This record gives sequence, C-alpha cells and structure tokens, in this order.
Amino acid sequence: MSARTEVLPADDPAAIARAAAVIRAGGLVAFPTETVYGLGADALDPAAVRKIFAAKGRPADNPLIVHVAAASEARRLAKAVPPAAERLMSLWPGPLTLVLPRAEAVPDVTTAGQATVAVRVPAHPAALALLRACGRPLAAPSANRSGRPSPTTAEHVRADLDGVVAVILDGGPCEVGLESTVVDVTGRRPLVLRAGGLSVERLRAAVGEVDVLSGQEPEAMSRSPGLRHRHYAPRARVLLVAPGQADALGGPAAAVMSQRPRPPGFVGRWREMPARLEDYAHELFAALRELDAPEVTTIVVETVPEVGLGRAIADRLRRAAQG
Ligand code: TXA
Ligand code: MG
Repeated sequence: MSARTEVLPADDPAAIARAAAVIRAGGLVAFPTETVYGLGADALDPAAVRKIFAAKGRPADNPLIVHVAAASEARRLAKAVPPAAERLMSLWPGPLTLVLPRAEAVPDVTTAGQATVAVRVPAHPAALALLRACGRPLAAPSANRSGRPSPTTAEHVRADLDGVVAVILDGGPCEVGLESTVVDVTGRRPLVLRAGGLSVERLRAAVGEVDVLSGQEPEAMSRSPGLRHRHYAPRARVLLVAPGQADALGGPAAAVMSQRPRPPGFVGRWREMPARLEDYAHELFAALRELDAPEVTTIVVETVPEVGLGRAIADRLRRAAQG
C-alpha cells in the first residue's frame, strides 16, 4: 500500500513512463480504458496481482481480465485459440473479453485457479501506451472497491482507492461507460458470460451464432465466477420500476433516474437519462454515484429496453438493485 496517490495526466509520456516503472516494480496503477478505469498490475507476477485483490477487497475466487496491446500477445497467454476466437479477435481493440484455455505462464492467482484466462486489447491510447511502456500483460479489474459501481472518471477511482493505488492516470471520462462483453470461446459455440460494451447483435454479425446467458441462471454462476458476488451497488437502495412508474415514488429521500424529462410539478431529485442507449451507458455509473447522496435512501430507476447496449445496462441495473 502506498501512502500517497499520484494523479497524473494520461496523455503525458512522462506520466506513462512513471506508471510503467510502478508496474515493473510490482505496484498498482489505475488507468483509463474505453470501457471503465482498470486497476492494473503485472499479470504474471503473483505478488503484484495479490495487491489488486487486497486493494479492492475482492473475493479470491473472482478471476481477473488480462489486458494486452495486441492479439499476438493474447495468443501467447492461451494454450489454444479456437477458430471462433480468431474471428472475434478481429474486433480488437475494443470492449470485448475472450475466455480462452490458459497457458502455463499465467499464475493461478490471476485466473482464480480457473483452467481458462480472460484477455482483451483495450481501445484507449493511454492503456495501450502503458502496456507498451511496461512490456507486461496487465491484470486489471474495474478500479472500484468490490461491490461498488465501476469508475468512469479518475475522480471515481480516487473516491474508492485513494492512498491504496500508487498512480492514477487521468484520461477523463470513459467513452463507453460499461465494462467489456465477456465471451467464453472454449465451448462448441461462443457463449456470452457478461453483457457489456459490445452488443450481442455486433457479436452475431461477426461470428454468426452466439449463446447468451442472462446472468441469472446457475450455469452462469459457475462459468462466470464474478456473477456470484455483489455488484454495482450504491449505498442507497436501488428500486427498478417500469418506464412511466417513477412519478409517484419521488420525495425528499428518493432520487429518480428516467429517460423522460422531469414531469411538471414533480418534487425531488430527477436525473433525466439520455434516450440513446450509447449515451445512457456512458452516463450510467456516474449517475448512480451522483444520486447516491447521504440524504437519498432510495434510487428509483425506470428500466430500459433490452436491445443493443440496453441488455448490458439492464443487467447492471438489476445487479445494482440486488445490492
Ligand atoms: O471492461 C472491462 O472488462 C474492465 C476494464 C478495466 O477492462 N474490467 C472489468 O474487470 O470489468 P472486472 O474484474 O470488474 O470483471 C471481470 C469479469 C468478471 O465477471 C469475471 O468473473 C470475468 O470477467 N472473468 C475473468 N476471468 C474469467 C475466466 N477465466 N472465466 C470466466 N469469467 C472470467
Ligand atoms: Mg468490476
């Protein structure tokens, strides 16, 4: 643990060099990706990876995503690359994580003892610059305390991990705002374990048939260990209601998230969310943190249609409500 957290501009080569030195010395760096901020450490150094679990308060049975700068490096972390994986790799860099059979070089602590490893190439210049500068694959979960909404700004990271992470690279707000789509490619057909920033529609356009776990079934729990745990939850209770149903539930201790403008005469907090689901995703986690004020006991959220990114948004909202 470091006593002080340095927040450095992500587009400054000197900051990248400093962050890379921290990684090579076995330390922790929070960095921006196109999805959410990651909390990175050398994926091949078990002691460094253990620091990630300690910093987040993350259960040891929840495996990490390993970030690399190019598909060629991902292949080296895998024991085999099935044909469907090859095709999906053409969507990199981007918000897509592939679960592959793991190579020996990847330590147990990184994969939580799984026979598979999750890998992705992030589409963010600072993430790629850091990966190239340190020359190591980076294990990086979202840079929040375990259970909290994922951070989409450097300020969110600091709110959760100040004094615990050595360096935060500040790259401004993340473009996508939702974590990557996690696809298991070890079976007969690609299987989506976690909906995310790359829609199922786009996956199907790239590889044809794709199976999707809703995230609620027992199989999802065993295939995607992260689903067992509490997630995305603000301190306030989150209550999901159908569109149009929030008006009656406002009040001094409530906050509403809705794609409709504030109704005339409505008293209380009302956060109007964008109509376009890409824009909604971009603002989702920031809105949950913003509405989670001390005087708010309930955040009332109107659900969104489950098409395109709406599938991932609805998934995160359900998990926040289960918090
Ligand atoms: O967009 C993202 O994916 C971000 C950025 C930083 O890249 N990272 C992220 O990491 O969201 P995290 O740790 O919050 O979520 C990782 C998810 C968990 O649901 C975990 O269970 C799953 O990926 N996962 C990791 N390794 C796996 C494996 N070998 N098999 C199945 N699921 C795995
Ligand atoms: Mg996370």
